[in-house]
Amino acid sequence: MWWESPGHLDVKNGRLYIAGMSAIDIANKFKTPLYVYDGNRIMDIYRKFYSTVKKHTDLEVRLHYAMKTNSNRKILQLLLKEGAWIDAVSPEECKAALEAGFLKEKILFTGTSVSSEDMKQLVGMDVRINIDSLSQLKRLGKITTDAEISLRMDPGIAGAGHSWRTMTAGKESHGVPIKFSIPENQIVEAAKLAKDYGFNVVGLHEHIGSGWRTSEEVNEFLQTVDIVLDKAKQISEFCNLEFINFGGGPGVRYQENHPEFPLERYAEETCRKVKESGVEINALCFEPGRYIVADSGLLLVEVVDVKERYGDIIAGVNSGFNHLIRPVMYGSYHEIINCSKADAKPEAEVTVAGNLCETGDVFAAKRMMPMPEEGDVLAIHSAGAYGFTMASRYNMRSLPKEVLL
Ligand code: LLP
Repeated sequence: MWWESPGHLDVKNGRLYIAGMSAIDIANKFKTPLYVYDGNRIMDIYRKFYSTVKKHTDLEVRLHYAMKTNSNRKILQLLLKEGAWIDAVSPEECKAALEAGFLKEKILFTGTSVSSEDMKQLVGMDVRINIDSLSQLKRLGKITTDAEISLRMDPGIAGAGHSWRTMTAGKESHGVPIKFSIPENQIVEAAKLAKDYGFNVVGLHEHIGSGWRTSEEVNEFLQTVDIVLDKAKQISEFCNLEFINFGGGPGVRYQENHPEFPLERYAEETCRKVKESGVEINALCFEPGRYIVADSGLLLVEVVDVKERYGDIIAGVNSGFNHLIRPVMYGSYHEIINCSKADAKPEAEVTVAGNLCETGDVFAAKRMMPMPEEGDVLAIHSAGAYGFTMASRYNMRSLPKEVLL
């Protein structure tokens, strides 16, 4: 199977093993619906990302884990031990990161539509704020000017992402104006204004979107790197920039035909561009989320009802888009593995449906897979990113449980 990965996901005698433990035993012990995360896998990928970047630069490398991806406290603590920094998007996330043990200096808040109320809380926690608009900058100036801030810029060319909903740069996506960041033609003025207010502008940031993985998309990203570096140079003439932050976005394989993210090229070319630009900074920052945790996590659900309707087979499970919304929200594909027939031939066309009162509540429609039976445990693959964090209590259902192996 394309998703097998020794020690992380194995198939033995047709059964799925996660981190060396039988998925069915885990389901019996903790009960479904259940998110299962493999801690070793998270650490391996974090280290791979860090070392791949670090080998191409003498600058300090900071990986600000985007905790909106998965803010499970135990996962945050694993990453804290690895030396991670934090990308937080709400005062609540900042608070959770502090409670998990992160130092305030290591937390960068990047929000959008940020209220003055939010900013009062952020200033109270003394975390660094990455400014998303001139309005935000001016309103922060009324609360304090004794702060180190960074500026989030839009490179002015289209962003990239697995869905139009996750592209965050350029003028618009799918006809919808982009709401994030300060446009490139206002960024130098914004830095001057910040300086006039008395702020210490220490960083320049971009994030062009989430879930890009083809080499064409990496090319697009690299074009934005040039634009950011050009602006960083101009801003450096009157501010001491400590870092440039290139955001997150590197995608993962959700499906067999998805290419592997070209991490080596992404790291090598970004670091080379920074070096060649001559911009003087101390640190190079990235904000990976999905890449670090997506495939470490699986959502285990149980087949509770199997029916045939007008020739279609519907396998009803004890979960729904309240637990994993990605298939419904973005049309995202997630592999579905039958934990007791993990290497069996796909023999039936099955629609895996949730238990919510919505027609669209399906994890997969008409997907070829081994015929499921009542009581089977299904593992929904690559659910570690934007799974639990996007869960809700729709239909008054409980949130799923989580376990870290
Ligand atoms: N930095 C910033 C400023 C971000 O807004 C994000 C994600 C990241 C970093 C991390 O991006 P990543 O490395 O994970 O691609 N719910 C959607 C994804 C939304 C991404 C939001 N921002 C999904 O399930 O695909």
